Amino acid sequence: MSIVNPIQRNLKFLLPVDRVTDWHADGVHVSQFLNTLSLFFPQGERFFIDSVRHYRDQIDEPELQASVKAFIAQEAMHGREHQIYNDAMEAAGFPIKSMEDRVTRRLKRLQKVSSPAYCLAVTVALEHLTAIMADALLKSPAALEGAEPRFKALWEWHALEETEHKAVAFDVYQQVVGTGTRAYLLRCATLFMATTIFFSLCTIFYLRILRRSRALINLRGWWSLTRHLWLRPGVFRKALPSWFAWFKPGFHPWQHDNRHHLEQLDELVERVESFGHEQQAA
Ligand SMILES: [Fe+2]
Ligand SMILES: [Fe+2]
Repeated sequence: MSIVNPIQRNLKFLLPVDRVTDWHADGVHVSQFLNTLSLFFPQGERFFIDSVRHYRDQIDEPELQASVKAFIAQEAMHGREHQIYNDAMEAAGFPIKSMEDRVTRRLKRLQKVSSPAYCLAVTVALEHLTAIMADALLKSPAALEGAEPRFKALWEWHALEETEHKAVAFDVYQQVVGTGTRAYLLRCATLFMATTIFFSLCTIFYLRILRRSRALINLRGWWSLTRHLWLRPGVFRKALPSWFAWFKPGFHPWQHDNRHHLEQLDELVERVESFGHEQQAA
């Protein structure tokens, strides 16, 4: 069971849209890689909400009921802020809408042809993927060092809330699909498939965005992305062992107790609220 109860926060990041293509200190390739991840969130999180909401009435524990409510609220807020982020990319001349539509079509098709239990299994798998990348980001101060402060705060907020609610969909899954062999095999298969499909699509979109940025053939840029993901801070390298942990029978997201990251939340909320005050003063 969860050892943390998520809570809803309504934060607005007021992103400086003119910085959207180059807001990360490691340059365009890293900025656009994170921008590519962002374009999946509004539709992806709507899918997560639908998958979990479907089972809401079958949850009897009041604590899990409350966590589901907060999970839905948090994902809705992530979707809202990432939509503003993605719209800024579209306004900067990138065909984000057409890529978002492609994600929507895929997810709608999945909902049409699959059972609610399968959609929930895909959700818990993608929530695991998000949680392990969030953890890798939060334990590496260098991951967002020197980045534009509002973009930095948005990614930190998303990573912190993904950590806070990382077990909610999983607990629902265990309650409604079960903990037996069938439930285990289903969640293993969906992590494998979800990771493959997600990163294939992500690569296609990333290359399109880089081509539009005229940065496709820039070896220095590719090196900075490779270094960022695999060496310093090495977000993917740090997330990899946790990806494999999923395949352990009896796995639960809170077996990796990283709730100490959540101590940053109060300071983060204050920082984000100060953005609003700065804008009012300007
Ligand atoms: Fe999210
Ligand atoms: Fe999430």
